[in-house]
Amino acid sequence: MLAGAVALAGFSVTAPARAASRASDRIEALLARMTIEEKAGQLSCFADMIRPPIGDINPQVNIRNAQTLLAETRAGRIGTLMNGLGTQGALDAQKAAVEGSRLKIPLLFAADVIHGFRTVFPIPLAESGSFDPHLCERTARAAASEASASGLHWTFAPMVDVARDQRWGRVAEGAGEDVYLGQVLAEARVRGFQGKDLKAEDSMLATPKHFAAYGAVTAGLDYNAVELSEATLREVHLPPFQAAFAAGALTTMSAFNDINGVPSTGNKRLMTDILRGEWGFKGVVISDYTADQELVAHGFAADDRDAARLAILAGVDISMQSGLYLRFLPELTASGEVPMAVVDASVRRVLALKEALGLFDNPYRSINAKVEAMRTATPALKQLSREAGGRSIVLLRNEGGILPLPRAGQRLALIGPFAEDRDNVVGPWAFFGDKSLNVDLATGLRAAMTDPASLIVERGCEVETTLAGGFERAVAAAQAADVVLLAIGESQDMTGEAKSRTDIRIPPVQQRLAEAIAATGKPVVVLLRHGRAIALEGVVRDARAILATWFLGSEMGNAVADVLFGAVNPSARLPVSFPLESGQEPFFYNGRTTGRPAPVDPNAQEYKARWRSIRNEALYPFGFGLGYTTFALSDLKLSTPQLAWGDTLHIAARLTNTGAVQGEHVVQLYIRDRVASRTRPARELKGFQRVSLAPGASREVKFELKREHLMFVGEGDRWVVESGLFDVWVANSSVDGLAGSFELLKA
Ligand code: GLC
Repeated sequence: MLAGAVALAGFSVTAPARAASRASDRIEALLARMTIEEKAGQLSCFADMIRPPIGDINPQVNIRNAQTLLAETRAGRIGTLMNGLGTQGALDAQKAAVEGSRLKIPLLFAADVIHGFRTVFPIPLAESGSFDPHLCERTARAAASEASASGLHWTFAPMVDVARDQRWGRVAEGAGEDVYLGQVLAEARVRGFQGKDLKAEDSMLATPKHFAAYGAVTAGLDYNAVELSEATLREVHLPPFQAAFAAGALTTMSAFNDINGVPSTGNKRLMTDILRGEWGFKGVVISDYTADQELVAHGFAADDRDAARLAILAGVDISMQSGLYLRFLPELTASGEVPMAVVDASVRRVLALKEALGLFDNPYRSINAKVEAMRTATPALKQLSREAGGRSIVLLRNEGGILPLPRAGQRLALIGPFAEDRDNVVGPWAFFGDKSLNVDLATGLRAAMTDPASLIVERGCEVETTLAGGFERAVAAAQAADVVLLAIGESQDMTGEAKSRTDIRIPPVQQRLAEAIAATGKPVVVLLRHGRAIALEGVVRDARAILATWFLGSEMGNAVADVLFGAVNPSARLPVSFPLESGQEPFFYNGRTTGRPAPVDPNAQEYKARWRSIRNEALYPFGFGLGYTTFALSDLKLSTPQLAWGDTLHIAARLTNTGAVQGEHVVQLYIRDRVASRTRPARELKGFQRVSLAPGASREVKFELKREHLMFVGEGDRWVVESGLFDVWVANSSVDGLAGSFELLKA
């Protein structure tokens, strides 16, 4: 298999990795001694006010202060604390549990370590564009190493929600619109966070979230209802969770949303029948933040007591932040509405989790101030953040090969609200980030230029408002420069949770700034700042060059400079489609053809599946990206035109670097099931390989397809595969490629 090759997903759709099926004698002995209050305590997680959290990082005002939490911990009424950091506070909290409580059960310390900790890496969506699971594993491992050094055991990551509507703010947090890419990266990130041994003090429990289908919220409106067919749920939204569990994840988090009227957090069919019954998951389900209490607002629970009953009976083991289990499990079990056996099963799973981490034998694991100092914000972490940033940047346009820029001999004007901004480089879900590490664009560019004085910087406008005299100063700077770098896009608070947007263009004032700059006639390179696909228009869309630079983390300025000046040859590909207009959302490459697919002729207007004013296609499609060299695919070969039911189809094509510099390409394998008992996507990604080639070099790239890669959810909502004709492409993106076909023969 080629270096960097990604084996085709053989992800099982059956049972994943299993935790211990029976609790140990230690746990059974503990359980036998526990009161119902202590049991409810183990099933309760609260925001950690014992350790100085960074700001109010959760929606509610934290309703318990440090003294209350310490007292509750000593009383055995808390099992997990979340989103605190720092070894001193961890020591105080763990002492309260292990030395101060009756049963001395250690606390779990959890946090949202989503894309880095103190040192921040690119947002997961950006990093997913690297199409490099090894890179994703490395950054997750690095994040776990840094976060565990600060007294944390458990991260509420990776977010594995497949997101097909760019209006949703949380698309930033996942792996984008494709299920296969989502599976591969979910597996890699779980391996990274958990490491090789969960008892190692630098390992963290991973949590593929949000279970399930949170990415399918109607209209991309966060927390909105989800209406899904069983087939789409099982084909698109569940497989990344299965891949994560197959990689060893022992926890998951229930989602805020409902699915077809049944809220996930009260959904027994989802949380027990599918998760545990079908898949054999033995780990722990934690609710999302007050999601159990929100069953009342959903109109699914009559009151808080009913909500606690429904959540625990559905299969939610730990209640996050609401305190409902502490309040109501004693009376619910006394009345028999909740069998004690149900509570005991949840407590066993939580205690088994603590045992899996080695906390009973080593409760002060990951609490060492010397290690914290040694493993935080190291040069290696910064270098990895810079490398990951450079590998996440997608080159969308490079007219006339204006990029890479020379390091000397040109006057550059860096213009826009993100030119010198350090507050919007890390993106959402990076509240632990050490801001002093943040490298803004101007700093990164100056460090890379031979003569930093030849960089002029003008803000031009605010993110969404004008700046007195800003346009005039920016135009003057552009007129004095040879090339303009336009640092525009979304700010951090326009992306992430509860940041859905009805219009995914850049803010109007920035578009007007771009128009004023373009009127100078100077060549413009757009450095787009964004947490989702953006609908580009006008002079921004038509700029000489466009780099999709997302939110790249602490080293943003250096990573962008590396690509701008050619130290790094951009090799990332789009993990989400950039539409022509916002109104196309939800837009994704692997939609169905419909009965009236739009003809190739762009001007055809007859009754076909297209918008009145535009075709329903991407400006920049999923899988697309340019580099500083060019590649050509040729010589597609299939091992047979007729694949026997139990055989393997071998596919090969030749990739040649037809340019002048070394580069990496992402060769993609797509299929289409031409005729099936359910309509199938126009294309489905089934494999990809990163290939690095010197100029003029070429290499054969090989893939394999078996019938399990051709499965879909068919009649009776079961996974099936049907014989017949399949198209196959070895491609550079989801819209091009060398085309072939084969027939899968009947069994
Ligand atoms: C948030 C998010 C979830 C996060 C949790 C704890 O609301 O939905 O992803 O892990 O609360 O912060």
